[in-house]
This record gives sequence, C-alpha cells and structure tokens, in this order.
Amino acid sequence: MTAPADYAAALRDEALAALDRAGVPGALESWRVEYLGRSGKLTAALRSVAQLPPEERRAAGAAANEAKALLERRLAERRAEIEAALAQNAGAGALDVTLPGRPVPEGRHHPSTIVMREIQAIFRDMGFQIAEGPEVEWDKYNFEMLNIPQDHPARDMFDTFWLDANRAPDGGFTTLLRTHTSPMQARIMEAQEPPIRVIIPGKCYRYEATDATHESQFHQIEGLAVDKGVTFANLKSVLYDFARRMFGPDTRVRFRCDYFPFVEPGVDMAIEWRGDWLEILGAGMVHPNVLRAAGYDPAVYSGFAFGMGPERIAMLKYGVNDIRLFLANDHRFLSQFR
Ligand code: PHE
Repeated sequence: MTAPADYAAALRDEALAALDRAGVPGALESWRVEYLGRSGKLTAALRSVAQLPPEERRAAGAAANEAKALLERRLAERRAEIEAALAQNAGAGALDVTLPGRPVPEGRHHPSTIVMREIQAIFRDMGFQIAEGPEVEWDKYNFEMLNIPQDHPARDMFDTFWLDANRAPDGGFTTLLRTHTSPMQARIMEAQEPPIRVIIPGKCYRYEATDATHESQFHQIEGLAVDKGVTFANLKSVLYDFARRMFGPDTRVRFRCDYFPFVEPGVDMAIEWRGDWLEILGAGMVHPNVLRAAGYDPAVYSGFAFGMGPERIAMLKYGVNDIRLFLANDHRFLSQFR
C-alpha cells in the first residue's frame, strides 16, 4: 500500500501536469474544482489524514499541506499567464470580436457601362432588341456592304487598324478591327428578314493620334430599324424621344445634313446642353445600295440607322474633359461613378 505522504506527492504531480494542459480561464476553474474544491481530490486527502494512525499523521499532513500550497501558487501563476496571453492577442486584433468589421471594397460600374446601360434601357423600352457582333471584322461588312467600295474616298473617314490575317492573293488587307458598329447593320439584314428594330453596343477602334477628344478604342451604339414604310419622320421621332429620356424632357434637338456613305439622306443630331449645341450622333435613312447588298428590295423596304458614342455622351453628362480618362484605369477617376 502506498504511504499517505507518497499519495499526496503523486496527486500533486498529476495536478501539476493537468494544470499545464489548461489553456483558457474555464479550464482553470474546472481544474481548481477537481483538485482544490470542497470535494476535490487533494481536499479529500487532507481530510483523510485525521483517520491515519498517529505515527503517520505528521508526515502525511505535512506532505498534503505542502502539495496544497504549491498547487494554489501554481494556479495563481497559470491564471496570470493565460490572462496576459489573452490581453496580448486582443491587442493584436486577433480575438477582439467587439471591433467593427473591416469594410469590403465595393466594385463599381465603369462610366461607359453606366451610360451604355442607360441608353440600352431607353431603346429596349421602345421595343428595340439588343445584338452584339465581332470586333475583328471583314472589310466586306465594315466597308463594302455599307456602300464603301475599295478606293472609295470615304475610307479616309475611318483610320483603320488592318490585320495581317487572311491577306488577299494580291496582298491586300481583308480583315480589320471594326471602325464602327455599322457592319452589324449588314450582318443583321443579311441574316434575317424585316421587320428589324435592333441596337448594337460594342467596342470600335481607329488608328489615330489620341488627344482629349480622340481615343483609338471607344464604344458605339448602333441603331437599325427596317420595315415597310419606315420614314425619316420615324427616325426623328425615335431620336427626339431618346434625347428627352436621356437628357431631360425639355431637351432641344437639332438635325443638320451630314454625309455617311451608308445613309441617304444623312444627318447629325445635336442636343442643346448648357447653352451649347453638341453633336451626339450620326443617322440617316439606310442607303438603297445597303438594302440591296443585304438582299432587300429598296422598293419594298426602307429603314433608318444611327450611331452614337457613349463616351462622348458620358463626357457631357458627367463633365469629363478628356476621353483618355475612360481607358486610363485611374481609380481616382473610376471611383466617382455609381
Ligand atoms: N457609323 C458612323 C460613324 O461611325 C455613325 C453612323 C451610324 C452614321 C449609322 C449614320 C448611321 O461615324
């Protein structure tokens, strides 16, 4: 049988090992109850000393009292250690659940996207569908089917990025980065029958020096309506309506003659904006040659088309004075739009 003094020492060692494993204040309290509590193991050992034969009492009592004093001291030390560690963690921000959360950075739409969606919503409400087309385009759609044959002087209106792919046998270029969204007029008419009411948003490219009002990459939104009996009055009413929904109900609108090979007659439309007339789009009646190239009979069908630049419109709506900001990816600029 183990001597009572040895028993107290064994209990002490067991308790010290358990104390080392206790890592949080709650575990310390359980430990205290288990060993030092009213019905704890060491308390019981101390109580049992009274039942020992007199010659064993002294040694057993001393060992148990010594163990109790040691455990109480170690408990206090361990509590202080744990509290210091917790305080340090809280100071480092790792555990303080009372701090407010860190805000997650919020994404925003690009100003071009905002304006394009606004324009698209207006035409969608008027019954136009939305289509998209390729940015790498054939000469055929970008120029030829739009009444701009090879060597036509109007090609000078469009400074073109030509592509090396699919060079003709004579070395001539046949593919390019589309200079406008108008090639989609030809593609859509070629692929389907009237009635057509469609708008086409997309990126366009021009090989030209950039400055505050010219960028080599920009967006356009093309519009096309073809049916029996479509008139210039229809063109005007749709674009008046657009201008008023986009810029406010009192917006004044001005049409002037302009030239684009794929329309006849052709116009540009300006709106009155803070006292100035600003041209925002080109438009006109689809040229008979364009209808014919797509397989439509110009004696049966007529249509109107228009094309506008969303960056230009964003510049006047938001007071942006340099078109190059749209592609500069400067967060100080982009974060101003919602
Ligand atoms: N495509 C012309 C341009 O880029 C705009 C336009 C479209 C004009 C449709 C008339 C009709 O300048």
